[in-house]
Amino acid sequence: MIETGLKDKVVIVTGAAAGIGRATARRFAEEGCRVASWDVKEAEPEPGGICLKVDVSNAASVDAAVAETVARFGSVHVLVNNAGILRDGQLVKFKDGALAGIMTDEQFDAVIDVNLRGVFVCARAVVPHMIQAGGGVILNASSVVGLYGNFGQTNYVATKSGVIGMTRVWARELGKFKIRVNAVAPGFIATGMIRSIPEKILQGMVAHTPLGRMGQPEDIANAYLWLASDAASFVSGAVISVDGGVVTGT
Ligand code: NAI
Repeated sequence: MIETGLKDKVVIVTGAAAGIGRATARRFAEEGCRVASWDVKEAEPEPGGICLKVDVSNAASVDAAVAETVARFGSVHVLVNNAGILRDGQLVKFKDGALAGIMTDEQFDAVIDVNLRGVFVCARAVVPHMIQAGGGVILNASSVVGLYGNFGQTNYVATKSGVIGMTRVWARELGKFKIRVNAVAPGFIATGMIRSIPEKILQGMVAHTPLGRMGQPEDIANAYLWLASDAASFVSGAVISVDGGVVTGT
């Protein structure tokens, strides 16, 4: 049995109302953590935990939520930057020789605001508390598409690659404070986020996944738990793929 060292630790999970975030909040709570579930939507508190309405792209909202979390639990030990959105579209779409669509500024900015700015704003607000606590762990949601690119996802891929860059910067900047920073790159996980993807495309994704199935939110939650635990105490600046071995473009 692995000793996680996570009992009673204070864990913030963003985007905790649904999907991977919800499974992650639950998993940390099972490990005896005190979990602050943050989301723009109503979330359900874990036993011994709290829920806060937070828009991660808004610095004032995040600062207030950090203050409330610290007032309640005394500190923050783990931040899981999980909140994310999609606004897919091709850069330019041509049909019958004519321009039929573009990715709009609104589509681009909305995704940058949540998936990239949100990760930056949350880390900036939490790190001073981690330093005061003598260390901590930051875990960032990247994606398999942040490594390989994906059709129709200029905005989303920019954020998921950007998150990997920030992870590596912060691993360098914050190591001296005993703060570890890692990213997880999930493959295709069965959540609301991919509900809009047509069945045929989903089947294609599974066909390109050596383990022959979609991932479940718990698959990612377990990776976050391990990365946050003492078992991963020498892991920082890493990007861990949790994708069933998916090889895109094949
Ligand atoms: P989801 O759509 O099921 O849940 C995302 C949660 O984030 C929702 O509860 C939503 O309300 C919340 N959220 C959205 N904007 C927010 C904001 N501004 N502030 C606070 N909360 C906000 O998504 P899912 O699938 O659970 O994804 C979680 C993370 O994992 C995302 O960052 C996503 O990009 C990433 N990911 C997901 C994959 C998948 O196949 N589902 C694959 C690779 C990465």
